Amino acid sequence: MKHPITYLFAILVIFAFLSGHVVAETFEGRQKCSSCHKAQGKSWRSTAHAKAMESLKPNVREEAKIKAKLDPAKDYSKDKDCVGCHVDGFGKKGGYAIDKPRRQVAAVGCESCHGAGRKYRGEHRKGGQAFERSGKTTERKVLADRGQDYHFEESCNACHLNYEGSGWKGAKPPYTPFTPEVDAKYTFKFDEMVKDSKAMHEHYKLDGAFVGEPKFKFHDEFQASAQIAKEDGAADEEDED
Ligand code: HEC
Ligand code: HEC
Ligand code: HEC
Ligand code: HEC
Repeated sequence: MKHPITYLFAILVIFAFLSGHVVAETFEGRQKCSSCHKAQGKSWRSTAHAKAMESLKPNVREEAKIKAKLDPAKDYSKDKDCVGCHVDGFGKKGGYAIDKPRRQVAAVGCESCHGAGRKYRGEHRKGGQAFERSGKTTERKVLADRGQDYHFEESCNACHLNYEGSGWKGAKPPYTPFTPEVDAKYTFKFDEMVKDSKAMHEHYKLDGAFVGEPKFKFHDEFQASAQIAKEDGAADEEDED
């Protein structure tokens, strides 16, 4: 028979693993990201994703709701079958909760695409400072190891292809009511959609503090046509609260 200490040790290892896992998943809220990335923050606010919570309120998007057999007069903004895909990190640490609705994670914000930011945002500051001081670059792998997502497609799929018969292997209820069966315009094609400026923020030139793999497949294409961000940080570029 094994010594009780062996079991205790095993339990501690499992606990350390699980809690480490939870920490990696902690959502920050978009004001943290936007305070450094003002241009993207401002651009994001005019996208469809930024208005995702509005759509759940009564008497908005009535036509679309009727077509999808939803009740246009109903308030869906506290409905657990809806909220999950219209906010950041639903049910996860730091993420949106119906009984504790944080404004900074209401709507489809930065971390829904870039990954929960608690562990990697500090590396952005460090990497940015090192680059500014001495031109020293940091490997993107450092950020990816701390949960920054460079592929995007799986995150998009979890909201856009979460319905029966979508072909996405992760599909499980609650499903999106807006499927190609309701209207062909709801067909999700990643390579096209990720370039759609109705839903995606504009791209701004990076200095190049981060280098190497993983690099997003359209990164160079986006950077080639990226705008120059204004550096002024005017008051109207602050996030809402
Ligand atoms: C303290 C300031 C700061 C914070 C907070 C911050 N970042 Fe950054 N971030 C930077 C700097 C500096 C860079 C490097 C910019 C460059 O190369 O021009 C960067 C780079 C990036 C990049 C490009 C990385 C690459 O591969 O080149 C993305 C995407 C990004 N940040 C997203 C976010 C998100 C999302 C958050 C919130 C979870 C966030 N940042 C929080 C300062 C910050
Ligand atoms: C957390 C869930 C979620 C994630 C992740 C997500 N989306 Fe969305 N997306 C939505 C919701 C909800 C809307 C509808 C917003 C509204 O109009 O209320 C939307 C709208 C859009 C639209 C606009 C569709 C139209 O009718 O014009 C595009 C394009 C889009 N998303 C692309 C993407 C891409 C590309 C990704 C990944 C890089 C992505 N989305 C990630 C939930 C998500
Ligand atoms: C599995 C994720 C998911 C769930 C659950 C979900 N949605 Fe959405 N919702 C989306 C996505 C993705 C879009 C964007 C579809 C597009 O335009 O391609 C969207 C778009 C919408 C729109 C805008 C449609 C339009 O054409 O203007 C409304 C309204 C909406 N959702 C309401 C709801 C309601 C109400 C519920 C609950 C009954 C719900 N959603 C549940 C993912 C989801
Ligand atoms: C719907 C998905 C989505 C959302 C929401 C989103 N981003 Fe991005 N972001 C992207 C994609 C895709 C890229 C391109 C990545 C690349 O080129 O490496 C990108 C690139 C960036 C970059 C690199 C420079 C640039 O402009 O291309 C920064 C910085 C950034 N995002 C910050 C943010 C911040 C801050 C927010 C929230 C206010 C945010 N993002 C919200 C998908 C998203």
